[in-house]
This record gives sequence, structure tokens and C-alpha cells, in this order.
Amino acid sequence: SIEGEENLRSPICCIMGHVDSGKTKLLDCIRGTNVQEGEAGGITQQIGATYFPAENIRERTRELKADARLKVPGLLVIDTPGHESFTNLRSRGSSLCDLAILVVDIKAGLQPQTIESLNLLRMRNTEFIIALNKVDRLYGWQTCKNAPIVKSLKQQPKDVISEFNVELKKVKNQFQEQGLNTELYYKNKEMGETFSIVPTSAVSGEGVPDLLLLLVQWAQKTMVEKLTYVDEVQCTVLEVKVIEGHGTTIDVVLVNGELHEGDKIVVCGLQGPIVTTIRALLTPHPMKELRVKGTYLHYKEIKAAQGIKITAQGLEHAIAGTALHVVGPDDDLEAIKESVMEDMESVMSRIEKSGEGVYVQASTLGSLEALLEFLKSPAVKIPVSGIGIGPVHKKDIMKAGVMLERKKEYATILAFDVKVTTEARELAEDMGVKIFCADIIYHLFDLFKGYIENIKE
Ligand code: GTP
Ligand code: MG
Ligand code: NA
Repeated sequence: SIEGEENLRSPICCIMGHVDSGKTKLLDCIRGTNVQEGEAGGITQQIGATYFPAENIRERTRELKADARLKVPGLLVIDTPGHESFTNLRSRGSSLCDLAILVVDIKAGLQPQTIESLNLLRMRNTEFIIALNKVDRLYGWQTCKNAPIVKSLKQQPKDVISEFNVELKKVKNQFQEQGLNTELYYKNKEMGETFSIVPTSAVSGEGVPDLLLLLVQWAQKTMVEKLTYVDEVQCTVLEVKVIEGHGTTIDVVLVNGELHEGDKIVVCGLQGPIVTTIRALLTPHPMKELRVKGTYLHYKEIKAAQGIKITAQGLEHAIAGTALHVVGPDDDLEAIKESVMEDMESVMSRIEKSGEGVYVQASTLGSLEALLEFLKSPAVKIPVSGIGIGPVHKKDIMKAGVMLERKKEYATILAFDVKVTTEARELAEDMGVKIFCADIIYHLFDLFKGYIENIKE
């Protein structure tokens, strides 16, 4: 197509990898922020989004003397947790993105969640670039702050280069074992066939310009069709959060289309479709993380791609991981309400018709689905009579308590990755409802099995 004719939206790039490989730190390095140091236990437990405007990317990549024009308005990066418990968030992030960065710690090589992430990306045919991070930890590394990687490698002593080559070779072999060819990006002549590796340091910034430029250039070169802006709203709920002064809000990723203040929207809710009106459209400042509390910019309207916080009434039971729909003047509201609830159907169909079974509670629809799938599997076979999403409240205990009269051992809540309120815990104690909590799915099975065996004795 003719130059200037393309109407491209910002590519959405997900950053994935094993816990502590340096995903958040790499984003901090690009943003000039300190998000990672503020995280509890130094681990990411939520999905985040940051918008990088093209001018910042241009500035950051100046030294690479790339004369290529940036045709995309910017880059929207989704940060994901690497801890094993958050498969659902990795899955949600990877389902939203156009391309990805897979971060590998140069000294640790491929680790379990590197491989899990790799498989999620392959499952969806998502292209990715490998950031071989923490190069500054090679013994004797000479820091060249924020330098392009080739320039930085030229200034390293011989020993450092040979250690670098040893580690690089190891990692390439590990990728080979997973069936992937990989190569340093500046030697890679067949991008798309062979996956590119960009050595980086999130602490001293080497290789970060390369990573940014490669991402943007590659996206706008090979994904024009995918990145061509469409008017039809395509929007996914990332998180549902209570924010002081704003009530319950939803963080969304707007992939295509435009949202306006006052738009009538429909989202999937635990107790049925939620029809509400956008009260405010907020974003953090450019280069700031959506999941971190800060000052927000207000918009009358906002165009994709963006990470946005929406405030509106009645969002308390909205379900993360589901689609948001805008109701246009000619749209059939009832049809939209039905379609937003389709996400819930597969979950509802797994509840026992007999009404006998345990009560299951999880943090998101995605993790609830995973848990139900697990409980149904032949090796487990625990029947489920009721479900909930979010923290365990008194009402959940009441619902689980129904089983006390029918099948006492099922008067149990299996709670996955959620909190239990103090009132709920007290009520459970009084009523004789058991609560088992875990943040790894199969631990719930072990706990429940142990309990059943105990009862039988
Ligand atoms: P999760 O989100 O919990 O999965 O971890 P992550 O991949 O986001 O890693 P994070 O950014 O939390 O970094 C983990 C630790 O490694 C922190 O202590 C960082 O300071 C450190 N780190 C990250 N990148 C680098 C790097 O390039 N060099 C060095 N020396 N340390 C790094
Ligand atoms: Mg992180
Ligand atoms: Na971490």
C-alpha cells in the first residue's frame, strides 16, 4: 500500500517468562520507573499494561541510527506474572497480544514457566522475540549504560565474551530441544523461521534499544493486516479492582475501536450480564503502569490500542478475562446480553445436575474453568454443586452449607487463589463448613482427599 495510507494501531506485546527472569525490571528500564521494587515479595501477581508512545521509542533507539519510519503510534506492553500459580494470567495475556517477548535469564536458561509460556505462544501461533536477560551478571561485565548490544559486546573483555558464548550456546540448545531454531538477532537472516535473541540487561540497559526497535519494526513489517485499525470495538477485561475514590473499576485492553464517556456497555457478570454506562475513561500517563496506583488522565474518548481503566456503576461482579461490548443505537441489547454470557456457559455446564457436590471458588473465570476441568478429570472426580469468583464471603458459606443436610462431606469450599473474609471464616466454623485454600490447583485435591479419608475412618 501507499505510504501514509496505512492506518495502524499500536501493536500489543506481551512479556512472558519464568519467575524473576526480569520481565518487570525490563519494563522499568524502558519506562524509567520502579514498579518491580514495589511488588510484594518482588513477584508480579497481576496483569499490567503500559503504553509506550512512538516518540519515546524513537528517542530510546536513536543510537541504533535506524532511519526506518515508525508507522505505528506506539506499543502497548502487557506484563504477566512468571510464578507458577498464575497460568491463567499468562494465558489471558498471551491471548490478547499480537506478538511477545519471551524473557530468559542468561544464567538460568530455560525454566518450567519459560517452557509453559513458549507453549502458550506456540498454541496461538504468536510470534515472539527472546530477550536473553541479565547479561550484566556475566563475570567481569563492563557496563555501557543503555548501549546497543553490539556496541556493548565490542567493549567486553575476552573472558566475558567467551562466557557469553558458552551461555548463549546452552540456551540455543535448550530451545533446540523444544524444537525451535534461535539466533542472535543481528545474525538472523530468516526471521519468522528462526527466532531472534536479543541479549539485554534490565539493570544497565544494554540491548534494550535493540529490543524495542526490533519489536516495532518487525511488527509493522510483518503484521500490517493484523495491525490495521478497525472501528468495531474489540475489548477484554483484564482485572476487576476496587480503587479508592472510584469504586469498583475494570482494567481493560482495547484492541480495536473507540470507547467514549457515556457509552452503554455490557460485560459478563457472575450473576448475569451487567449493563452499565461508562462514567470515566482513565489511563495512567504514557510510560506508566496501569496496575500501579497513580494519577490518571481522563478522556472523553479513546482509540485502540490502549490499556484503560473504566469506572461505572455495578461492576462489582464483572468477570476478568471476558469481553466487553458497546451497545450501539441499532444494536439488539438482548442479543448482546446473551453473547457476553457465553463465556460463562462452559463453566455452568460443569455443575452437577443432582445438586450434590462441593462448592468451588476461584479468582477469575479462567482459573475457575481450569479448576473445574481438573476436578472433573477421571483421576480426581470431585462433583461440584456451586461456584463463585473472587473472595469467599458469608453468602458462599451459606450456599456450601446446603450440603450439610444432604451429603456432609460436600459441605466444603475449595478455594483457589482467593481470600476468605474473616466473617466468612467465622460463619464456616459455626456451621461446620470446611474451607480448603490453595494457590496450586492439585493441592486442593490432596487436601480434600485427606479430609474424606479422615471422615471414613
Ligand atoms: P515475576 O514477575 O515475579 O515473574 O518476575 P520478573 O520476571 O518480572 O522479574 P523481576 O523484574 O521481578 O526481576 C527479578 C529480580 O531480578 C529482581 O531482583 C531484579 O532486580 C533482578 N533483575 C532483573 N533483570 C536483571 C538484569 O538484567 N540484571 C540483573 N543483575 N538483575 C536483574
Ligand atoms: Mg514481574
Ligand atoms: Na519477580
